[in-house]
Amino acid sequence: MKKHIVLLPGDGIGQEIIGSARAVLEEIAEKFGHTFTFETHAIGGTAVDEHGTPLPEETVTACKQADAVLLGAVGGPKWDDLPSHLRPEKGLLGIRKELGLFANLRPVKGFKKLLGSSPLKEELVEDSDLLIVRELTGGLYFGTPSERQENGQSVVDTLYYERHEIERIVDKAFQSARLRRNHLTSVDKANVLESSKLWREVVEEKKTDYPDVTVEHMLVDAAAMKLIQNPAQFDVIVTENMFGDILSDEASVLTGSLGMLPSASLRSDGVGLYEPVHGSAPDIAGQNIANPLAMILSTALMLRHSFGMDEEASCIEKAVEEVVDLGYHTKDLKITNGIETNTTNMTHKVVEYMSQNDACS
Ligand code: NAD
Ligand code: IPM
Ligand code: MN
Repeated sequence: MKKHIVLLPGDGIGQEIIGSARAVLEEIAEKFGHTFTFETHAIGGTAVDEHGTPLPEETVTACKQADAVLLGAVGGPKWDDLPSHLRPEKGLLGIRKELGLFANLRPVKGFKKLLGSSPLKEELVEDSDLLIVRELTGGLYFGTPSERQENGQSVVDTLYYERHEIERIVDKAFQSARLRRNHLTSVDKANVLESSKLWREVVEEKKTDYPDVTVEHMLVDAAAMKLIQNPAQFDVIVTENMFGDILSDEASVLTGSLGMLPSASLRSDGVGLYEPVHGSAPDIAGQNIANPLAMILSTALMLRHSFGMDEEASCIEKAVEEVVDLGYHTKDLKITNGIETNTTNMTHKVVEYMSQNDACS
């Protein structure tokens, strides 16, 4: 198969880990006889520096023409004081909106070897395997107007959803639950927010279309607690944009590091952007110590969701698991008697395993 991929490295460690994605894809191309072509474009703070905007028009055009997009991360202290429309994060929100990527899938599955990296008790983390389905193009992030008023002394952010926006993400979550363990937890704040009441109403209506899926409603504060008290009770969690953002960083603690969580941002026709859940990690940027596995695993999600390449995706996932099993890890993780290594070497190890393993052919 021939596929054209746009790479958006972005800022901070995004610039370092994007190379890891490309390296595993080049290995996949060779092993499986595919042709992947790459085109790199600017987004975030880097784009502000180079083009005066966090989302240049040419980046949007290239992404729209590509078969899939891979993004590193955006943001950093250098751009924190810019006006809102110039912030790197606006570039990320802009590309999600431009591409219509309303469904953000964030799988959270720990590796046995990394159980000791989580501050939680091993027996709690052991059986956890969940998927957060986060609404990505609505809610507080996109409400209008978002502004300061009355000489900066009052502010407004608007949490706005239309019924159809809730329906499509809830459908996606039910469909995802069917491919897993048929359990859906809808997380909201229906005891306070009108938007959550509509959200709950939609879930109740939709569940009649999916009688094989068990549905549970949970308030977000309780969900945050249960996620670390008993994570194994969750299969698929569906929630609005902001709650999903917060709960996914929390859930990363189960895996030992934010550097382990990949994500897929999709619309209904399979077009997608793939990026780690973590940010640009300014505290470790430029040191070649970032964990590249969230980026590498995002690449596997791209192969599976956008290209229908299941075997190829599994090849990458198996290689990651194997390398971790051998004890290799970056500084953010802890493995007793393991081998601490850097971003480049960790990537080499994954590629090396892929090249040697018969499962990858
Ligand atoms: P962050 O996710 O960048 O970092 C949080 C902590 O996790 C840091 O201590 C960091 O060193 C660590 N970490 C994150 N990824 C890691 C990796 N791959 N390997 C090892 N350690 C890793 O969040 P933050 O510090 O709150 O935000 C920094 C910047 O990133 C901000 O500008 C924020 O807006 C932006 N951000 C961007 C994205 C994105 O592009 N998708 C996501 C989150 C935050
Ligand atoms: C994420 C990030 C972004 C979000 C920021 C950088 C806009 O935290 O992808 O999780 O909140 O969606
Ligand atoms: Mn986030």
